[in-house]
Amino acid sequence: MTKQKILITGGAGFIGSHVVRLFVNNYSEYEIYNLDKLTYAGNLENLKDVESKSNYHFVKGDIVDAGFVNTLFAEHDFDGVIHLAAESHVDRSIESPMDFVMTNVVGTVNLLNAAKHSWKKTAAGKRFYHVSTDEVYGSLHEGGFFLETTPYDPQSPYSASKAGSDHFVRAYRNTYKLPVVISNCSNNYGPNQFPEKLIPLFINNIRNKKPLPVYGKGENVRDWLYVIDHARAIDVVYHKGKEGETYNIGGFNEWKNIDLIKVICRAMDKKLGRAIGESEQLITYVTDRAGHDLRYAIDANKIMNELGWKPSLQFEEGIEKTIDWYLANQQWLDDVTSGNYLRYYESMYANR
Ligand code: NAD
Ligand code: TYD
Repeated sequence: MTKQKILITGGAGFIGSHVVRLFVNNYSEYEIYNLDKLTYAGNLENLKDVESKSNYHFVKGDIVDAGFVNTLFAEHDFDGVIHLAAESHVDRSIESPMDFVMTNVVGTVNLLNAAKHSWKKTAAGKRFYHVSTDEVYGSLHEGGFFLETTPYDPQSPYSASKAGSDHFVRAYRNTYKLPVVISNCSNNYGPNQFPEKLIPLFINNIRNKKPLPVYGKGENVRDWLYVIDHARAIDVVYHKGKEGETYNIGGFNEWKNIDLIKVICRAMDKKLGRAIGESEQLITYVTDRAGHDLRYAIDANKIMNELGWKPSLQFEEGIEKTIDWYLANQQWLDDVTSGNYLRYYESMYANR
């Protein structure tokens, strides 16, 4: 394996932290630079186990700041970029769309410009990997799957901003010959997810006997993939994906929200020694999300057939592991919900 200096953006977030851990541990000959602004969603506690490794480096910074991004690339001459930094929560995008335009669109274009400039002599052997979402394809009804060729039809400010960033990545390839690869993944679940997304929010609320706010009738369908399987797919696409290609990533694992919620309720009743059915009583139907996409479902055959990736975990095992992780890491949940995690950076990095 040749030496590489790789910039991973958004590495303190949910998926990014699993990607950073995988690359730092599996590729000791790589130098991994984690660039993260540490927004509310960035938590360096997620990376405690790798922060002292000699091939890991943390850089605090904002991808919206073009001057900062350009200087970073000039200093480091990166061989590859794996771009995950984003505003990622649909409900927040409904409240503040401009934050999504800035980070997801402007931030991505800043990184593309910096890579283009840095690789202007030769882009041979370089790679700009943009990590995106299946939500760019819009909303499905009963049948069918999202293919790599499905036309974009984003419906929320979040998915519109991610679609915009995907278009810019492809435009930089077409116009400037930037070597790029893109993947679009379905909903992730697993350890370290910020408890404003469905699964960790509901695990935390069940733990605290708080209401479980189900949007609408709970009939929306999502296709869930264990986060470590997404990180494994990102490893495969980074190393083996064909330049200029797009790969859809998913677990062929569709769940209606209400059915998934009941699985979590029953599993937690058992684990917490409560009467079966007790947690389901916490289910509270609330006003639907504005413009709520009905169904997402990924056809992941291309990455499976061409790159040999497949999910390692069945959903039943993945959801058990996930609940166990949150129950074993209640301090993490309490720190995140109380805001204590925001102080971790100061205590760890103030004197560095
Ligand atoms: P997350 O919200 O948990 O983490 C995002 C990270 O980006 C945080 O650490 C945050 O501090 C950082 N960040 C935000 N704005 C920044 C900025 N301006 N400059 C630098 N850093 C900034 O998100 P996630 O769920 O881990 O998603 C990571 C990526 O994967 C995103 O691009 C998202 O669109 C994509 N994705 C997510 C899912 C999912 O189910 N969560 C599914 C498919 C694709
Ligand atoms: P979420 O985890 O926000 O992911 P996304 O919107 O990107 O798919 O939501 C997953 C599904 O759960 C989605 O259909 C909205 C629904 N949902 C609720 O019913 N209640 C909630 O409190 C949340 C956060 C989500």
